[in-house]
Amino acid sequence: MLLHIREVLRPDELRRAQDILRTAPWQDGRLTAGEQSAQAKNNEQLREDCDATRALQQLLLRGLERHPIFFSAALPRQISPPLFNRYGGAANSFGNHVDSAVRFLQGGAGRVRTDISCTLFLAEPGDYDGGELVVEDTFGEQRVKLPAGDMVLYPGTSVHRVLPVTRGYRTASYFWIQSMARSDEQRRLLFDMDNHLRHLRSTYGETDAGVIGLTGTYHNLLRMWLDV
Ligand code: NI
Repeated sequence: MLLHIREVLRPDELRRAQDILRTAPWQDGRLTAGEQSAQAKNNEQLREDCDATRALQQLLLRGLERHPIFFSAALPRQISPPLFNRYGGAANSFGNHVDSAVRFLQGGAGRVRTDISCTLFLAEPGDYDGGELVVEDTFGEQRVKLPAGDMVLYPGTSVHRVLPVTRGYRTASYFWIQSMARSDEQRRLLFDMDNHLRHLRSTYGETDAGVIGLTGTYHNLLRMWLDV
C-alpha cells in the first residue's frame, strides 16, 4: 500500500531541519549507489556520519515516535537511520530502480530488510517544479509530491523513480523499515482493522462488548502474523 502520513515534523522542527539542510555539506549521490542504481541516480546526498545528518536524524526519529498513525501503519521492527538527499541544478533526477532488499548499516550495526520504503518531504512543493516520486504499484503509477513534513510509505518491492526537478531544490529524507509484518497485504489488513477499531471505540466507548471482542481479535492477528 501507498500511505500518506501527515505532519511527522511540527512547523518549528521543519524550520530547523530546513535551516540545517541549507548549509549542509552535500555530496554526489552516486558515491553510495549500487551498480544498477548508479546509472539511474543523479542527485546529491549528505554523508551518513556528519553533524547535519545526526541532528536531522534525531528530529525525524522523534517525530516518528510520537506520531499516532505511523506505528499502526508500519509496525516497525527496525528503522534504518534516515538519510537525506537533494535534487536540483544538474543533479536532479533518479530513474527507475528497485531498492536493495537488505540495507547494511554503517559500522557493522546490523541489517534491515527493506519491507517499506519511506520518503519524507522537506521542501515545500511550491519551492520546486517536478521532483514527483513515481511509484509503480498494483494500481498503476502513483505520483507523489507532498507538503514539507509529510511522508509517504510504499512497499520496498516497487519500482520507483524521481522525476527531474526543473526549478528550485527538492530536499527529502529517505529510509527503510523492516516491519514486524513482512507481508504488505497483512500489514494493510491490520492497519485497516486498527482504524476501524479506533472509530468504533470513539462511537461506542472502550467498554462496549463488541469493541473489546474485536480488539482481542486484532491482537490475536498480531500474535499470529508478527515477528517481534
Ligand atoms: Ni529508491
